[in-house]
Amino acid sequence: MESLKSKINLERLPKHVAIIMDGNGRWAKKHGKPRVFGHRNGVKSVREVTECAAELGIDYLTLYAFSTENWSRPQKEVEALMLLLVQTLHNEISTLNKNNIKLQAIGDLEKLPGKTRKALLSGIELTKDNTRMTLVLALNYSAKWEILEATKKVAENVKNGSLGLEDINEDVFSNALSTKNIPDPELLIRTSGETRLSNFLLWQLAYAEFYFTAEFWPDFKKESFYQAILDYQNRERRFGKTSEQLVT
Ligand code: FPP
Repeated sequence: MESLKSKINLERLPKHVAIIMDGNGRWAKKHGKPRVFGHRNGVKSVREVTECAAELGIDYLTLYAFSTENWSRPQKEVEALMLLLVQTLHNEISTLNKNNIKLQAIGDLEKLPGKTRKALLSGIELTKDNTRMTLVLALNYSAKWEILEATKKVAENVKNGSLGLEDINEDVFSNALSTKNIPDPELLIRTSGETRLSNFLLWQLAYAEFYFTAEFWPDFKKESFYQAILDYQNRERRFGKTSEQLVT
């Protein structure tokens, strides 16, 4: 494992990695267990990948923990996931503090169950002064919802005269999103063999590199993360330019 890590160029790390953690249910089924067993083991991967990202020196790690669409899962599974979140937050806040990691959240947090919201807000408050890495949890998150909310904010400012129509630009819009002050992810990882974006960070991922792996999320550990970073570093990021322009 050390050899994979040693191949990583620490000068060319993505500042922000976003992950769609997928495949907990199928992993559990493969092991003949209920879906929640998969989610519990998914938390182990969350812990390991968070630690690994901080160790490498990545500034932001965003994890898609619960989408707005996930409410349509069986009620028992939703309840178990919300409880798991509360438990994980309670268990892990001291580790986050020990590792100097700040917790943040994006999504429609108002609609989360009271206990989950409370645990989340308390975690955010207790880690707010940490500086090594920011762990962003996307909870009850939907990119289309986020874009509509930002549009309403910008429109409101135009309506009340504090912003001119001609002053709307990418920066103004980015600052109206829940990810304001967070740089766009350079790398998106999705596990479990699915190759969809599933309503995740549609605006912010405009220039990101996508990395898909067949591994289910509970199997995605340090080595898998190093592999994803190495794959990213082997790509040429052109931002619309030609290869020749990049050399000069
Ligand atoms: C996707 O697998 C996973 C989720 C929707 C939930 C992810 C949640 C965790 C890993 C636990 C809590 C997280 C944190 C940050 C504390 P799936 O259920 O869609 O799997 P399937 O596609 O195989 O059914």
